[in-house]
Amino acid sequence: MFYSDELIEDIQNKNDIVDVVSEYVKLNKKGGTYFGLCPFHNEKTGSFSVSPNKQMFYCFGCGVGGSVYTFLMKYENATFQEAIKMLADRAGVSLPEVELSGEDKKKRELKNTLLDINKLAAKFYVYQLRNESGEIGRKYFANRNLSEETITKFGLGYSGKYADALYMYLKKQGYSDDILKETGLFTFKDAKVYDKFFNRVMFPIMDINSKVIGFGGRVMGDGEPKYLNSPETKVFDKSRNLYGLNQARSSRKPNIIICEGYMDVIALHQAGFNNAVASLGTAFTSGQASLLKRYTKEVLLTYDSDGAGVKAALRAIPMLKSVGMTVRVINMRPYKDPDEFIKNLGADEFQKRIDDAENYFIYEANALKNNYDMHNPQQTNDYYNEIAKRLLEFDDEIERTVYMESVSRECMIPLDILKKLVARLALTYTGEKEYVQPKSGNNKKNEKDDGVKKSQRLLLTWLIDDSLIYSKIKNIISEDDFTTPLYKEVARQLFEQLEENRLNPAKIINHFENEEEQNEVAKLFNTTLDSEMDIKEKEKAINDIVLKVKKNSLDNLSRNASDIETLQKIIIEQKNISNMHISLG
Ligand code: CTP
Ligand code: MN
Repeated sequence: MFYSDELIEDIQNKNDIVDVVSEYVKLNKKGGTYFGLCPFHNEKTGSFSVSPNKQMFYCFGCGVGGSVYTFLMKYENATFQEAIKMLADRAGVSLPEVELSGEDKKKRELKNTLLDINKLAAKFYVYQLRNESGEIGRKYFANRNLSEETITKFGLGYSGKYADALYMYLKKQGYSDDILKETGLFTFKDAKVYDKFFNRVMFPIMDINSKVIGFGGRVMGDGEPKYLNSPETKVFDKSRNLYGLNQARSSRKPNIIICEGYMDVIALHQAGFNNAVASLGTAFTSGQASLLKRYTKEVLLTYDSDGAGVKAALRAIPMLKSVGMTVRVINMRPYKDPDEFIKNLGADEFQKRIDDAENYFIYEANALKNNYDMHNPQQTNDYYNEIAKRLLEFDDEIERTVYMESVSRECMIPLDILKKLVARLALTYTGEKEYVQPKSGNNKKNEKDDGVKKSQRLLLTWLIDDSLIYSKIKNIISEDDFTTPLYKEVARQLFEQLEENRLNPAKIINHFENEEEQNEVAKLFNTTLDSEMDIKEKEKAINDIVLKVKKNSLDNLSRNASDIETLQKIIIEQKNISNMHISLG
């Protein structure tokens, strides 16, 4: 953190959240809370709330929330540092020179320098596209029907004919070879330095805050490789970013479209589908799935309609499902990709394809069909069995029936046969999903982790909701029992505040620099627990949850214990907690 907690709190105190948010959103007072239309998702009724007491905002529609800093970070696409600066300016507070521990400071400076260089490089490529030598690039984009507005919106550029133009330019700006090596933009070979990108149209790749973190370049003509991408660097993690997400995140659409290429994303945005993103020249990753989860509940896949595209879709589906997303697949045939589709049939037709997009289950079932010879009775039977097995994956009876009926219709499997197969398999089905292809190998572990995380989250919510509980459990639970790092940090600060009897949600939120983390903490402070519970039920719930959290923490300790003595202590504690009873009376 650049600035001290005290300073951050001081600046916050001088910027009342109601005042600041009112500059952006029309708010109406209802009781002690203000409400308005959420600026972060499309809505007609105001689910966006601002609490002067908590100095927090929270949207009950889309779940976005946080402190006054979070609000600016989201609204202005700012970093935490930038939000602090804005509010310091607003309140007339002068900020001290940055002070940070040596190591952290160096890391951050390096990152900032890399981002500065990337920004300069992006500008340089834009400049190259605009000047005489950029004619090839301009013609190329014109050929691909990109408007001037689109080119500007995506910051597209051209890297020029000379293999060291960018290098020379950045040297002139005073950057050392050591730092330029870290950018991934150059090849250092035999005491010579070459630009990695030349004679390519350039696509700057940005993170969700619109900072340039890398580049993709498409060759002019038939050279190889067709697309060249920056390697991963200290600021470019390909598995945790998506091309176009910085724009798609504020599209106010009910879903996000994932496609394969940069040009697909751009063509889609230009045609009004401003919710399109692409992975970065690598296969879709689970990190990208969880990133997307923060912005949408439904994903539409529009991978290329060739074999590789189908394979990529089949790989992505389980990852998206495992983070709890709805997935549908868009059929683009007879065209290869969204770019070609729109070029030929236009946006209205594409919208129809979106509306008709196939549920992932049917898509998988159809794709699977290609592995079997349907003229062979044995293979046909095997195929039916495989579908029946997959249907057993749905725990919910109604859901299973719905899928059974649609898969029977779409894949031409007689419904009565399918019903019989499912019923027969269900008899031997253990509930361990042994028939189903494991989604990620360590599925069970993930489920367990989720359960542990959930109980830690719930315990924090209880503590926030009712400070009486803290006094009852403070001798049993400590911050170290929270094995999820984010919750551990929240617990540490929450316990401190509860100890001093001075609950200050915004202060805890501000301890996290990253918008997503702030959001998650804000959720803790806005979850209302079931008020209908009587004291007995409440007591039971608390005991269950404390036991779960404590048990997990002790299990962890015993797994890592290195000597007998420690282990014995843990065993005693484990015994103790199984006899524990917290009484709320
Ligand atoms: N890609 C890559 N390296 C390659 C080929 C492709 O990184 N050698 C990535 C790029 O992100 C590209 C995407 O895969 O945008 C899709 O590639 P492809 O289907 O070959 O190209 P198109 O997007 O159709 O490209 P274009 O329309 O420009 O020919
Ligand atoms: Mn294409």
